[in-house]
Amino acid sequence: MNQSKRYTITAALPYTNGPVHIGHLAGVYVPADIYTRYLRLKQKDVIYICGSDEHGVPITLRAKKEGVTPQQIVDKYHAIIKKSFQEFGISFDNYSRTSAEIHHKTASEFFKKLYDDGKFIEETSEQFYDKEENQFLADRFIIGTCPKCGFEESYGDQCESCGTSHNATDLIKPKSAITGNTPSLKETKHWYLPLDKYETWLREWIVVGHKNDWKPNVLGQVKSWLDDGLRPRAVTRDLDWGIPVPVKDAEGKVLYVWFDAPIGYISSTKEWAKRENKNWEPYWKDKDTKLIHFIGKDNIVFHAIIFPAMLKAEGSYI
Ligand code: 2FM
Ligand code: ZN
Repeated sequence: MNQSKRYTITAALPYTNGPVHIGHLAGVYVPADIYTRYLRLKQKDVIYICGSDEHGVPITLRAKKEGVTPQQIVDKYHAIIKKSFQEFGISFDNYSRTSAEIHHKTASEFFKKLYDDGKFIEETSEQFYDKEENQFLADRFIIGTCPKCGFEESYGDQCESCGTSHNATDLIKPKSAITGNTPSLKETKHWYLPLDKYETWLREWIVVGHKNDWKPNVLGQVKSWLDDGLRPRAVTRDLDWGIPVPVKDAEGKVLYVWFDAPIGYISSTKEWAKRENKNWEPYWKDKDTKLIHFIGKDNIVFHAIIFPAMLKAEGSYI
């Protein structure tokens, strides 16, 4: 591994739909903390970045269940999680949250740049809809059989059994997670990132350029997704909780949580830089910076395929 000039260490932003538990600490936050402390002892230029992931369907489901608003849920668990990390001695340089203004601005601008540069495909298609709830069903609002491994409780966006990420309409025998009803189909417009266009670049970057940097299970999974062929992925959702899609004719639509969450690493870095009177950009844009993500295994596709493709599409990031 080459000597890097600086290190940007990130730990997966925890969802604020419940407290952080010991498995998360053992698998992600403590290992990242040990590695960061080691680099600090070696006098390296390093930042350890994290924050709360406050959007997405699990939070709205939790709010429904408890009979409160999503905002009340995220305020409650952000405070609990932040305190747990402090009491456990996790030495983040910054712990932000995706409801922060700086994050909404950063994620909106990121989307807008890709939109203005013509990097998205705009498409109207039929999506699952729950007539009883008057609501589109994406991601965890829908459960069905995974088309790849046959697991019967797969979510609309991802199968927690085999890790495959898919579109909700790929599910076999889908049902609404809210009412249990079989959904109907209804037309809606969304913006898609054409991952297939980044397949050659990803293969070169992952399998050739960085082949010694990956853990074996990560490399194995990523190669298998690349071999299956990548497809365009919707980066917007019909939902009333999240960052509004910053273009015309997008009322009632928000950014997909997995589009805005990894950008949270960037906005948390910006927040840190502002407070410390530093420049955030070298930590994300300088070729001598090493970016290292500490994640759980169901986060692999988002950090090794989708986020790199987003950064590549934006154009100014390492
Ligand atoms: O799996 C999770 O808990 C997600 N909230 C992780 C997000 S990591 C990131 F990209 F922000
Ligand atoms: Zn599966």
